[in-house]
Amino acid sequence: MHTLIKHFFAMTPDGQTQTAAGWVRTRRDSKAGFSFIELNDGSCFQNLQVIASREHLANYDHEVRHLHPGASISVTGKLMPSQGGGQTHELVASSLTVHGFADPETYPLGKQRITLERLRELPHLRARTNTFGAVARIRNLLAFQIHAFFQSRDFLYLHTPIITANDCEGASAMFRVTTLDPATPPRNPDNTVNFKADFFTRPTSLSVSGQLEGETYACGLGPVYTFGPTFRAENSNTRRHLAEFWMVEPEIPFASLDDDAQLATDMLHHLFRAVVDNAQADLAFFDERFERGLVERLAFLADAKFERMTYTQAIHALQGAREPFEFPVHWGMDLQSEHERWLTEKHLKTPVIVTDYPKDIKAFYMRQNDDEKTVAAMDVLVPGVGEIIGGSQREERLPLLLNAMAAHKLNPDDYSWYLDLRRFGSVPHAGFGLGFERLIQFCTGLPNIRDTIPYPRAPGLCD
Ligand code: 4AD
Ligand code: MG
Repeated sequence: MHTLIKHFFAMTPDGQTQTAAGWVRTRRDSKAGFSFIELNDGSCFQNLQVIASREHLANYDHEVRHLHPGASISVTGKLMPSQGGGQTHELVASSLTVHGFADPETYPLGKQRITLERLRELPHLRARTNTFGAVARIRNLLAFQIHAFFQSRDFLYLHTPIITANDCEGASAMFRVTTLDPATPPRNPDNTVNFKADFFTRPTSLSVSGQLEGETYACGLGPVYTFGPTFRAENSNTRRHLAEFWMVEPEIPFASLDDDAQLATDMLHHLFRAVVDNAQADLAFFDERFERGLVERLAFLADAKFERMTYTQAIHALQGAREPFEFPVHWGMDLQSEHERWLTEKHLKTPVIVTDYPKDIKAFYMRQNDDEKTVAAMDVLVPGVGEIIGGSQREERLPLLLNAMAAHKLNPDDYSWYLDLRRFGSVPHAGFGLGFERLIQFCTGLPNIRDTIPYPRAPGLCD
């Protein structure tokens, strides 16, 4: 069996026999009958330097000298302190097995630098690059740390359904799920599609959020969180929207908006600290390549106070800004990305939690404030990305929830189960949704969210 390369770097190299396996990044030949091979197996950012020589390897001339970037090999040899600069360890090969050659004429990831745009057309190969290896490791680390954070606080991990008959966010466009033949669907007498004949005997879609189901479990079991895929058919071709993304949604009973904001802050602190402490080599790469000062910024934010302001204060600040916004600012509008970014990047230069938005621009389930104009909503905005978290205290008072549903033109019969939570033992409760890919965008400085997920889905994109 081979050992993952990351473990070699934790060893003191003293000539012990080890086996590594991976993909060749580069090969350099010296005149003296040996070659340097940079080997990467994805376990860490660093390559392992392999010394392959004619003296020790019978296949040196007919195989080793034909290894090009992308070839896969296993190497057994002695792990030695490196003679040259640039690395601490090297593996001096006593045997080398080639599993698969890669043709340098056709392998798309040669030595030359390749753009992120071009790599998006090669989603099946981009895991072999420095950038996507680093993204995948940071994604893995953050997913694990999200569970660690909530588990350490006694939150129950809840699996909410992916196929649903409800639209949680109201305005959000949903992907229809059906087994009907689109060419010849069964029809009602009035020519509308007869969904009674469909698989679920009703119209169904992919979920935009697990929140409503999360509330049902929180109002019975205590704090819960979901962490799963969500789907939005918004036609948003931007660098921060995906049609399929992962969301983390905690829900806490007996809690207010302040408790919710505190939980969001504690969670982000924990996650920033975790990447800074555990992803040094990958972060250093992103710092150098994509965003200067990234490591310092994350380390600072790992215990920084987040600013807080109400929506109304944010509107005042925006109206006082000397900034040519594309969308003019007035009370009652939804904040556009340009406004969010101005607040967090230019005005405050730090993450900010904006609270108490006008009720007309927010979802039906948010708790109405005493002014009767705003709701107990919060958005967490961060530099570079804008909104990373959206949350609220939920309306726990039945008559007010019914009013809000009427105002949003929702039929209470469709939500009778949700209303039952208010009929029987209703409690104040709150929660939020963290966009997992936006978190990764923020922690890596990657300009486009499509590079934070292995197989991005967006309008016109399902490779
Ligand atoms: O603000 P949103 O729409 O909130 C909800 O869905 C609530 N049900 C959450 C809750 O209270 N439990 O979405 C939450 C977060 C956003 O702040 C954003 O980070 C992310 O999900 N998000 C997206 N990320 C990538 N692509 C998209 N199209 C996204 N839409 C939302
Ligand atoms: Mg939102």
